[in-house]
Amino acid sequence: MEVLKRKIIEEGIVLNDQVLKVDNFLNHQIDAALMLAIGQTFAKLFAEDGITKVLTIESSGIAPGVMTAMQLGVPLLFARKRKSLTLQEDLYTEKVYSFTKMEESEVTVSRKFLSPTDRILIIDDFLANGEAALGMARIVKQAGADAAGIGIVIEKSFQPGREKLLEQGYRVESLARIASLTDNQVTFVPDGAGTTRFLPLRKS
Ligand code: G4P
Repeated sequence: MEVLKRKIIEEGIVLNDQVLKVDNFLNHQIDAALMLAIGQTFAKLFAEDGITKVLTIESSGIAPGVMTAMQLGVPLLFARKRKSLTLQEDLYTEKVYSFTKMEESEVTVSRKFLSPTDRILIIDDFLANGEAALGMARIVKQAGADAAGIGIVIEKSFQPGREKLLEQGYRVESLARIASLTDNQVTFVPDGAGTTRFLPLRKS
């Protein structure tokens, strides 16, 4: 998605060769127009898949998730990382380990919002090791529902998440695929016949 790649080039900050900071438009401040364009793109990619619900995880998945849900005309459901005061029982629960943060969290979704007839589109902001997406996919399985695919805003293709999801048979659609973050530069995985581009980013 060219507009997203341009945004990453113009406003992303390479923190180190593993981490890209995008709190200008995705992880803290949110570019609503960009989120709408992201939602339109995901909705187009999954238009023929009979999606009944979009599932994401709080907090940064909610903005792209809600725009996608709006475009598809279905609800957005987000997995919680912290126990809610009012959400006590009848939960699907999965443990998700973050290699980036080196911590485990328990993610939960109320059983009343997922049913075996659902066809779920999973959306997340980043794909690194794939643990969050796999955790959400396990929740979909627990509910007996179908995961039609996984939509990722920014994929770090040099980390193993994509392979792990593909190995388990999931369709993965990433709007920007980063091949590397070395030397303060982002290199995108070429789409289709495109060529690899080396693009300068601002210094952190
Ligand atoms: P994984 O789910 O693919 O295995 O990812 P991982 O555990 O490595 O990532 C944990 C958290 O760190 C996630 O956010 C993820 O979005 C974020 N993250 C991973 N790599 C990057 C990166 O290069 N840049 C940025 N900005 N974030 C990254 P989270 O803890 O769920 O936070 P939030 O959704 O509340 O913002």
